[in-house]
Amino acid sequence: MRIKTFEEYKVAYQQSVDDPEGFWAEVAQQFQWRKPWKKVLSWDFQEARTKWFEGGVMNITENALDRHLAERGDQPAIIWEPNNPEDQAVTLTYHVLFDQVCRFANVLKKHGVKKGDRVCIYLPMVPELTIAVLACARIGAVHSVVFGGFSAKSIADRINDAECSMVITSDGAFRGSKVIPMKDTVDEALVQCSTVEKVIVLTRTRTPVHMLKGRDLWWEDEVKQVNSVCPAEPMDAEDMLFILYTSGSTGKPKGVVHTCGGYMIYATYTFANVFQYEPGEVHFCTADIGWITGHSYIVYGPLCYGATSLVFEGVPTYPDASRFWKIVERHKVNILYTAPTAIRSLMGFGLDYVKGHDFSSLKKLGSVGEPINEEAWHWYKTNIGGDHCPLVDTWWQTENGGIMISPLAGITPEKPTFATLPLPGIQPVLVDESGKEIEGNGVSGNLCIKFPWPGIIRTTYGDHERCRQTYFSTYPGMYFTGDGCLRDEDGYYRITGRVDDVLNVSGHRIGTAEVENAINMHLGVVESAVVGYPHDIKGQGIYAYVITEHAPQDPEMFRKDISATVSRIIGPIAKPDKVQFVSGLPKTRSGKIMRRILRKISEGDVNNLGDTSTLLDPAVVEEIKAGKL
Ligand code: PRX
Repeated sequence: MRIKTFEEYKVAYQQSVDDPEGFWAEVAQQFQWRKPWKKVLSWDFQEARTKWFEGGVMNITENALDRHLAERGDQPAIIWEPNNPEDQAVTLTYHVLFDQVCRFANVLKKHGVKKGDRVCIYLPMVPELTIAVLACARIGAVHSVVFGGFSAKSIADRINDAECSMVITSDGAFRGSKVIPMKDTVDEALVQCSTVEKVIVLTRTRTPVHMLKGRDLWWEDEVKQVNSVCPAEPMDAEDMLFILYTSGSTGKPKGVVHTCGGYMIYATYTFANVFQYEPGEVHFCTADIGWITGHSYIVYGPLCYGATSLVFEGVPTYPDASRFWKIVERHKVNILYTAPTAIRSLMGFGLDYVKGHDFSSLKKLGSVGEPINEEAWHWYKTNIGGDHCPLVDTWWQTENGGIMISPLAGITPEKPTFATLPLPGIQPVLVDESGKEIEGNGVSGNLCIKFPWPGIIRTTYGDHERCRQTYFSTYPGMYFTGDGCLRDEDGYYRITGRVDDVLNVSGHRIGTAEVENAINMHLGVVESAVVGYPHDIKGQGIYAYVITEHAPQDPEMFRKDISATVSRIIGPIAKPDKVQFVSGLPKTRSGKIMRRILRKISEGDVNNLGDTSTLLDPAVVEEIKAGKL
C-alpha cells in the first residue's frame, strides 16, 4: 500500500488514472473481506451516484481491531492525554480497545440498537468517544458524531434530521480551565426530539445531572452487565458507516454520508501514504473527532493501519501555550497533524513557549483545514520541525473522506503554501465560470474533481437531491469542491479558499446563511448579512451587518446579545467578530444582497467596490463605508 519514492508516486498516479478500478482493487485486496466484491465501481455523476466494491462483505472494525490482535495486540492503539497535565495519561492497547468496543457494542445491542439505526454521539475527547464510534460500526449502527462545542439547538437539528434513536454523552467536559455541562445541553436538545429512546451518560466531570427514568443510563453501570464477545455485523461495502453534518452556502447543515468499504480504503490508504507511517510511530492529530479530520486521522485511518493514535482532550493553550510541545515531548510524538489557526495562535505567544522542549522524536508535520500562510508554514517547519521534518499541507473536505491533494511526507518536493499534487486516484480540474476546463499550468479557476475516488460522499442524509444539486450540478459531470485554486508553472496546486458563501473560521466550516438566520432570531433584528474578512489568527473572521428595528441605545450591549444568540442557536464557534449596525443593505433591484460589496468593505478595500449602479439604493453603500468597524 505504501509508496516509497517520488518515482513510485508518479507511476502509481498514472496507473490510477489509466486503470482506476484495477488500482483501487489492488489496494482493497490488502484489507480483510468476508466476501469479495462483485463490482469495483459503478458511477453516474449526473445522478450523484457512486458505488465502490458493491457486494463485498466486511466490517470496518475487523480491519481496525481484530486483524491486528495476533501481531500487535499489546501495542498501544490509543494514547489518551487528559485535559489536566497533572492527570495520568491512559494507554489502550489493541487488545484492550477491542475488548471495550465489543463490550460497549453489546450495551448498544441490549438497548435495541440495530444495524442501520442512527446513534448521536456528543462526547468530549475521551477514549470512550473512539469506543462509542467503533461500537456503532461493530454492530452496523450509523454514528453521527456532533462536535462538543455545538449548542442544544444544533444537536436537536442533527438528531431530528437523522432520526437518531440513541444519544451517547457525558455528564460534562473539561476544556482548558472550563467545565462544560454536556448532559444538560443534551437534555435541552431532547425536548425537541421525539425519536430518542435511550441516552447513555459517561461520567467524566462529576457535574450533577438529571437522569430521566426509563431513558437515561450510566455508561459505567451498563458495561458491567454485558460480556465482551461481540461478533462484527457483516456489512456490504456500500452500507452506511456514518453521517457527519457540515455547513454549506444555503440552508441547514447537511448530513454527509460515508459508506463502509470505500471510506475505509481511502482513509487508510491516504493515512499510510501522506504521513508515510512506520510501525511503532506515535501519530498526534490535534483535531476533534467531531470533525472529519478526527474521524479519518484519529480513528479510522490510523487504527485500520495498525498505528498508535494520540487523543488529546484539552486545548493548545491550557495550562499554557506550550501544551502541544509538552505532549510531543512526553509521548515522543513522531507525527504532528494540526491546523494553521493553532499554529498562528501559538506563534502569537512567542518562542519562549517553544524553547527548551525536546522535539527530537518528531519526524513529520502536517497541516489541515484552511490555507496555511507563508509565515505560519515557515514558523512551523523551522521552530517545531527543526527544518528537517517534512511538512504536508493536506487539502480535503468532509465530503471527500480523506486527503485529496497533498505532498507525501519526505517524498513530494514541498513548496510553502501549496498542497502540491493530487494523491493517486484523484483527478483535479480547474474550470472557469462557464464550466470550461482550464488546461495547462500557471492558471487558476474553480476546483472540481472529474472521476470518483473511494472516499467520495455518497449522499446527503434523507435528501439525495440536495447532494446532487450542491456538488454535481454546478459543473455537470464533475464534483464541485466550492474552492478556488491555482495551478502554478510546476503543476502544483494551491487552494485559495471558498468561492461560495461558506466561511472557514479557525478551520471550522460555517455557512453565512446559518449565522444570518441565528442573528435574525434576536428580538429587534430586522435583517442581517454576514461575510468573512481576513483575520490574523482565525484565517477568516465573521463580519455581520445588522439592521435593527430601532437604533440601539447601547450598541455594545446589543452586540453582546447578538453574540449570545448566535452561541445559543449554533454554538460559540459561530459568534460574529464584528457587528456593524446599518440602516440598509446593498441590494439589487431584484432584492439580492450584493455580498461582494460587503466583503470588500469588511476587508477595508473601500475604494474598489466595482459597479454599484445596479443597486436599489446606492446611498446605503456610503453609509456602510463610513461606519466600518
Ligand atoms: O476550503 C477548504 C478548506 O476547508 C474546506 C473543507 O472544510 P471541512 O469539510 O470542514 O474539512 C476540513 C478538514 C478536512 C475546504 O473546502 N481546506 C481544508 N484543507 C485545506 C483547506 N484550504 C486550504 N488548504 C488546506 N490544506
